[in-house]
Amino acid sequence: MERFVKALCVGAFCTVIGLSAAWGAESTLYQRLGGKAAITAVVDEFVARVAADTRINAFFAATAADPKRLASFKGRLADQICEASGGPCKYTGKDMKTAHAGMGVQAQHFDALVEDLVGALDKFKVTAADKQALLGVLGPMKSDIVTR
Ligand code: HEM
Repeated sequence: MERFVKALCVGAFCTVIGLSAAWGAESTLYQRLGGKAAITAVVDEFVARVAADTRINAFFAATAADPKRLASFKGRLADQICEASGGPCKYTGKDMKTAHAGMGVQAQHFDALVEDLVGALDKFKVTAADKQALLGVLGPMKSDIVTR
């Protein structure tokens, strides 16, 4: 009997610890987006929208024409979003200033690209709060990307 009571207490204690851990654990944006697979799907949709967007697709003509280059670009975007949202990935591409140097990207191009990203996030039913959180991480990159 004594052993039974002890076991019950240990079980109850573990349940309390387990529940408080679950309650206390705040999910990261990465987790809320659905992890790497979901981010990869968003990037696929995003890049397809950019490729169809006549306001900016000229910038990506060479990328779209080369499947290897396209795959590497998508992989870097996914790693960047994964890392920026608190995921376990490591972005190993160029810094944003170097990557976009000499392209002549204007504010209107940046805004068009963000619109395409929002379209992709909407398609995957990402909540308004999580969209804002992601744009909040990417938005400050604008000053390194827009050069005209
Ligand atoms: C928040 C906005 C943006 C982010 C997060 C972003 C991110 C990136 C990343 C991660 C790369 C790959 C860098 C590398 O290969 O090392 C890249 C390349 C590139 N970006 Fe952006 N970018 C943004 C805005 C833009 C805009 C507005 C344009 C033009 C309209 C643009 C055009 C390009 C092009 C043409 C490349 C080269 C693609 C290639 O490798 O073939 N980006 N960008």
